[in-house]
Amino acid sequence: MPESLKILPDFTEQAINDRLKFIRAVNAQHKNSFAEDVLHGLSSDPKTLLPKYFYDAYGSELFEQICTTPEYYVTRTEASILKNVSAFIAELNNDKRVIVELGSGNSEKTKFILNAFTKRNSGITYVPIDVSEILLDGGKHLIEEFEGLSVHGIIGEYEESLEVVNSLITEPKLIIFLGSSIGNFDMPHAGYFLRHVSNNMHEDDTLLAGFDMVKEENVLNAAYDDAAGVTAKFNLNILTRINNELGGEFDISKFSHRAFFNPLESRVEMHLVSISRQDVNISSIGKVIHFQENETIHTENSYKFTDEMINELSSKAGLRISDKWKDEKDYFELCMMKK
Ligand SMILES: C[S@@+](CC[C@H](N)C(=O)[O-])C[C@H]1O[C@@H](n2cnc3c(N)ncnc32)[C@H](O)[C@@H]1O
Repeated sequence: MPESLKILPDFTEQAINDRLKFIRAVNAQHKNSFAEDVLHGLSSDPKTLLPKYFYDAYGSELFEQICTTPEYYVTRTEASILKNVSAFIAELNNDKRVIVELGSGNSEKTKFILNAFTKRNSGITYVPIDVSEILLDGGKHLIEEFEGLSVHGIIGEYEESLEVVNSLITEPKLIIFLGSSIGNFDMPHAGYFLRHVSNNMHEDDTLLAGFDMVKEENVLNAAYDDAAGVTAKFNLNILTRINNELGGEFDISKFSHRAFFNPLESRVEMHLVSISRQDVNISSIGKVIHFQENETIHTENSYKFTDEMINELSSKAGLRISDKWKDEKDYFELCMMKK
């Protein structure tokens, strides 16, 4: 695979050493998308912002902190399943030397999988994909920790990065999508996305996806509104990012964090609430945004799944579930899927 990872015209490669390389997406199509998406989202009724914009350097750092809060059961529950089943996953995928991860973040949980694969076989290549540059640091640590592992990261959006992977890697691969990040897509969109993943899979490829399951409402509400206020900071940081990158003039103290489980939609919603009536100028988009008192910006959905929802999603995407594993409280499910 390393030899075959040539560069498409829209991408530039940065080689740190023989085992650590990164491709940076410089796709012109996405260059101005932050401003366009903010203009579109804040001109809509109700107002929205896309969750992928949470993850600048500070946002990624805050997400790491969320993962360690006592209320955010998601990370430690998924990690406990991975700890138990990674050796078996490696055994089931013994023909694969390439692991591609969508939205890898700091790759902390992935270490269970990398450990199991590198123990069985040499010449493993890990391809983390993330919009956040956090994967640069993660990659440096991984090559120190796992002898013989190569890391070829892609800093870019899921869809375009997956197409790059598909066009350049012909060997069988395991694609992983952890943290229930699939739950951040709205329901029809999650289906299209999974279909896109499936279209980019060869017959021998496998997808391992994590799904956060429906559970007690108080557990869900607390997970997205921790007592230390880290999730609130994470949510508000999207306004700071607009201030820093688009000349926004948000007064952060005039917005508050709200998160709650919406049982009708089976999702936890995160919003930013305007504490008072106010006007906010954003110079890069050439617009003043008006807010009524208590008006909200809907910033994220995190869908919570049932087995029926997972079955429906996977079958619509042309995937069949070959194995699945849960924790003892049935909080989280890892599913292995094939075409
Ligand atoms: C909820 S975090 C999960 C991180 C890690 N996989 C975990 O399970 O802890 C989502 C990650 O996906 C990345 N991300 C979000 N939207 C993305 C997109 N459209 N394309 C690529 N990466 C994205 C974020 O930067 C972040 O690192």
